[in-house]
Amino acid sequence: MESQNEEHYSASRLFHAQTHIWNHIFSFINSMSLKCAIDLNIPDIIHKHGKPMPLPLLISSLQIHPSKTRNIYRLMRILSHSGFFSLQKLPDEVEEEGYVLTDASTLLLKDNPLSVTPFLLAMLDPILTKPWYEVANWFQNDDPTPFDTAHGKTFWEYAGVEPKLNHFFNDAMASDARLVTSVVIDKCKGVFKGLESLVDVGGGTGTVAKAIAKAFPEIQCTVFDLPHVVAGLQDSGNLNFVGGDMFEAVPPSDGILLKWILHDWNDGECVKILKKSKEAITKKGKEGKVIIIDMMMENAKGDIDDESVETQLFFDMLMMVLVTGKERNEKEWAKLIFSAGFSDYKITPVLGLRSLIEVFP
Ligand SMILES: C[S@@+](CC[C@H](N)C(=O)[O-])C[C@H]1O[C@@H](n2cnc3c(N)ncnc32)[C@H](O)[C@@H]1O
Repeated sequence: MESQNEEHYSASRLFHAQTHIWNHIFSFINSMSLKCAIDLNIPDIIHKHGKPMPLPLLISSLQIHPSKTRNIYRLMRILSHSGFFSLQKLPDEVEEEGYVLTDASTLLLKDNPLSVTPFLLAMLDPILTKPWYEVANWFQNDDPTPFDTAHGKTFWEYAGVEPKLNHFFNDAMASDARLVTSVVIDKCKGVFKGLESLVDVGGGTGTVAKAIAKAFPEIQCTVFDLPHVVAGLQDSGNLNFVGGDMFEAVPPSDGILLKWILHDWNDGECVKILKKSKEAITKKGKEGKVIIIDMMMENAKGDIDDESVETQLFFDMLMMVLVTGKERNEKEWAKLIFSAGFSDYKITPVLGLRSLIEVFP
């Protein structure tokens, strides 16, 4: 009896381990199924329908080959399992049910102003997935990143010569910028109080600066980014564009915004960027500052769930694979801030996994 139990126990451990491995081998199927649904426009089609959408109606609304129609339920089944769709009873129908969107798929609608779809399409583009095949090689060579091993250039150099990467990456950043700015302008108004000028360093195509310029007409806003990113963008009102390199100099300003910049760089590079930012601050006292928006690992509140922890770890790996950066906890942020000669900082954790950090000279 005893040994039967032991056998049963070890067999169950064996198969549990096998399932765990299978689950990890196939984690990419979650990403690729979601990308497929976006490519087929499924969230938008369900949204346009306006009520629970039965499978046959969904199938007849899709632009797919007739021989593939019977496979759509399989795609919908895995995406319902992973929380992107759910089934709801149709009003006035006892039996029939239809697909509805969840919060996550609503955030993937193409005409949702806060849509995360451009970010999804960028991160799953083969230019950005190819470096993942090179991670082990990179551990054994002296390339700065797996991206360099895959493409022979740094991410930023490649974006400068490959318009496709430049465009989809800038679109991805702009979509995130819309989401973050909508919260920052609403919940963190005080952060911008007293500023007469603001430079958004690495500000991409200007989504954040445009929104700040509109919400605070008294602030002169400058988007500062690499020349190929701001090429052809037009100044208007209290918004202007400047091309340059933040490692050489940052345009002078009361406030310096660094949104999703420092996590792209290693500690030495970050201290350089922060020192250049400090040199650029024109206003004395608490009104002259650097405003960082970036991930805060191991959130001090301690109430972080497993999915959030794993997402932070994904981002940290992403920063290792595409660029020379990393995600940081508060202790690591403080070390960078004080190494660059700043005297104090204040964290406002209102952006999910990210925080707004005000840094004072
Ligand atoms: C991760 S993106 C963040 C974009 C934007 N701040 C946002 O969050 O939406 C990093 C930005 O830094 C810019 N960048 C990279 N190297 C730079 C440099 N040496 N000088 C200025 N900008 C740079 C990139 O072109 C890109 O727009």
